[in-house]
Amino acid sequence: MKRFVVSLTVLLSLNVMYAQDITLPAPNKEGGKPLMEVFNNRRSTREMSDKPLSQQTLSDLLWAAAGVNRPDGRRTAPSAMNMQEIDIYVYTPKAVYLYIPQEHILRHLLTGDFRAEIARQPFAQKAPVVLLYVANYERMTRLDQQQKDFYGATDTGFISQNVYLFCAQEGLNTVVLGMIDREAAKSRLGFDGKAQLGQPVAYPKQD
Ligand SMILES: Cc1cc2nc3c(=O)[nH]c(=O)nc-3n(C[C@H](O)[C@H](O)[C@H](O)COP(=O)(O)O)c2cc1C
Repeated sequence: MKRFVVSLTVLLSLNVMYAQDITLPAPNKEGGKPLMEVFNNRRSTREMSDKPLSQQTLSDLLWAAAGVNRPDGRRTAPSAMNMQEIDIYVYTPKAVYLYIPQEHILRHLLTGDFRAEIARQPFAQKAPVVLLYVANYERMTRLDQQQKDFYGATDTGFISQNVYLFCAQEGLNTVVLGMIDREAAKSRLGFDGKAQLGQPVAYPKQD
């Protein structure tokens, strides 16, 4: 009985640990490589190590992707009519989070590894972070479906390119994925919107 209680306590505390929001460290907004060098390094790379990203790197990555960069709440990526409708879900080996740019935190949504559910290609399922870009229809109510599709796609592209450039300057590997399971993501996360693209981010494999 005592052993059962101890195991239960350990399990519950682990769950509490995993089931927490993450307050990201402040992003590093200075330095980095010259922009032209970064353009020269930008590429799709499918070799992914499973080495975790530090919280600082994750913070910088998400801020670069679509963080708030002005006092009025505007972001590093443009969005049509400033709708800011693209949500970034962050899949890790232990949990799925939603990035909240205004607070620069990760809101815990699910405990568990669901990377393989969205990323169809095996190389991406090992990445320590798989980003999923979702057009949130609750912020697009004024638009018809064709406009939702168009702006959802264009605005995702800007964010994905920010991630590509951040990876190019940090020496991380990434590739944007159209080949994702949109229905699985929607039924797992229950959003009102459309999953657009995925994007794993990882260190290169060490030989
Ligand atoms: C909208 C879009 C969807 C893509 N989907 C995939 C994908 O599902 N899987 C993949 O391995 N690469 C995917 N790619 C990456 C392209 O294959 C890659 O960008 C192209 O080969 C050019 O290589 P580069 O990015 O290194 O210039 C996609 C790229 C774009 C722009």
